[in-house]
Amino acid sequence: MIKHFLSLSSFSSQELLSLIERAHFFSLHHKHPDKIHHLLKHKIFANVFYEPSTRTRCSFEIAAKRLGADVVNFVPENSSVKKGETVYDTLKTLESLGVDGIVFRHSDDNVFDNVHGNFDLPLLNAGAGKNEHPSQGLLDLLTLHQEFGKLNGLKIAVCGDIKHSRVAGSLMVAAEKFGMEIYLCGPESLLPTHPRSFVQHANFDDILPKVDAVMMLRIQLERHDLDLDAKTYHRHFGLDLARVEKMKKDAIILHPGPFNRGVEISDEIVEHKQSRIFKQMGNGVFTRMAILEWAMN
Ligand code: CP
Repeated sequence: MIKHFLSLSSFSSQELLSLIERAHFFSLHHKHPDKIHHLLKHKIFANVFYEPSTRTRCSFEIAAKRLGADVVNFVPENSSVKKGETVYDTLKTLESLGVDGIVFRHSDDNVFDNVHGNFDLPLLNAGAGKNEHPSQGLLDLLTLHQEFGKLNGLKIAVCGDIKHSRVAGSLMVAAEKFGMEIYLCGPESLLPTHPRSFVQHANFDDILPKVDAVMMLRIQLERHDLDLDAKTYHRHFGLDLARVEKMKKDAIILHPGPFNRGVEISDEIVEHKQSRIFKQMGNGVFTRMAILEWAMN
């Protein structure tokens, strides 16, 4: 059976915990090649990114290489996409060239819906429009689990452009599975209009003292036009020192990146002692190691 990694919704909470456990194992052993370098030896993955990426693309590549695999980086701008090749034909071409799995990012929310059944190799969602970013969701779960030793019942405030965020999309899927409480904060126009039972709109300043984690999100100006005054936004919804001081002392700060310092997060908060932002990024490698291994087994 081909194991596509398209959405966290296709995994049970137990399956997600198994992936988290494996990612945690890789966090302990990622620099011990004798233990892990053989696991995906002779496999070749293609990274196919139709949208820019720093963290996801590089961490999938490092993850593959840590496990002994090779990586082909397909760059649409320098490819036959420029001559009219469709997304489907590019993916089919890479399959016919013999890659073992395709890590794929695209701006279309539903890009996987109609195509995945036509492939005899795993497709791994590295971000689909504003729909889901499941490997980011999983690394966020790993970071929370490492911190709190559990996921069930955690209270998380998410602040920013939630309506256009695939990171928030995957977090919501996971939150429902693990009985988390999610509080959405930000400008009214950037919040989803139909929250679900475990999701509530909240005032940012009021909710800060009550949550275990605060996830900050950037405004996705590539997906919509918003006449944003950065200073005004920062005053209302930016995480600064005064706001961090309202948080519980053991609560943590997350951000999937890239972050805009001085807009949704103050410069001094990015590396604040309660911030796990860079740990979260590092966890991207371990989580993607677990995903690549899962897809190949
Ligand atoms: N978090 C995330 O997806 O970052 P990149 O866009 O840099 O991959």
